[in-house]
Amino acid sequence: MVIIMSKIVVCNQKMFLSYDEAEKISNELLKYNDENLIICPSALNMDLYSKYNIGAQDCYYEDSGSFTGEISPYHLALKGVKYVIVGHSERRCYDDDKTINKKILAAQKNKLIPILCIGESKYDRDLNRTAEVLKRQLTIGLKNVKDEIYIAYEPAWLIGKNKSLSINEIEDTCTYIRKLLKGLRISNYKLLYGGSVTDLTIENIISNKLDGYLVGKTCCDVDKLLKIIKCTKM
Ligand code: PGA
Repeated sequence: MVIIMSKIVVCNQKMFLSYDEAEKISNELLKYNDENLIICPSALNMDLYSKYNIGAQDCYYEDSGSFTGEISPYHLALKGVKYVIVGHSERRCYDDDKTINKKILAAQKNKLIPILCIGESKYDRDLNRTAEVLKRQLTIGLKNVKDEIYIAYEPAWLIGKNKSLSINEIEDTCTYIRKLLKGLRISNYKLLYGGSVTDLTIENIISNKLDGYLVGKTCCDVDKLLKIIKCTKM
């Protein structure tokens, strides 16, 4: 019999929810809250999730200073935030791999666990460059990283769509990522998959090779999210 352990579910609420909408979800989700559930609300809605494990959706690499509009990892830690997404494909247009590396190190200095998103664009995929892109993102992004980190493999071209990669494609890529991480001497990590993880796709992508899932738009619908959570506990 195949035994599948309960998985981590990271909910990236992005910029979908107003304060009232986020409050409703926080109330409805409370009885399903556990240590494997990580909620990444918008910065404005964080106080609504104080009973949950909270992740920020990004942070800056300095603790304080004249950086208008940025969010300090130090201030996040003071607020009780435990995780921070870095290198999300929707933010990579502002940050190169070296900047993402600085953010990871700054987050870890403040005892936040970074959730590093990696993944190829459609352009790279069509040119057969997925392996090369993942290698670059991990090698530069994880330079000098020693503490715990989560890695989320998210093919950028499948974010916000209705289909995910096939289980075989996900597992092959995860095997490759684990090999790269071993070469980089990174052992204290969890490996997640994201990109159109929905109530409709989840059943087909449950895998022993993954520690969890990063859910975007669908996490803003409690019924659909609960179906995902249920599938990850079977
Ligand atoms: P999605 O987003 O689930 O809406 O595809 C995932 C993500 O952007 O992390």
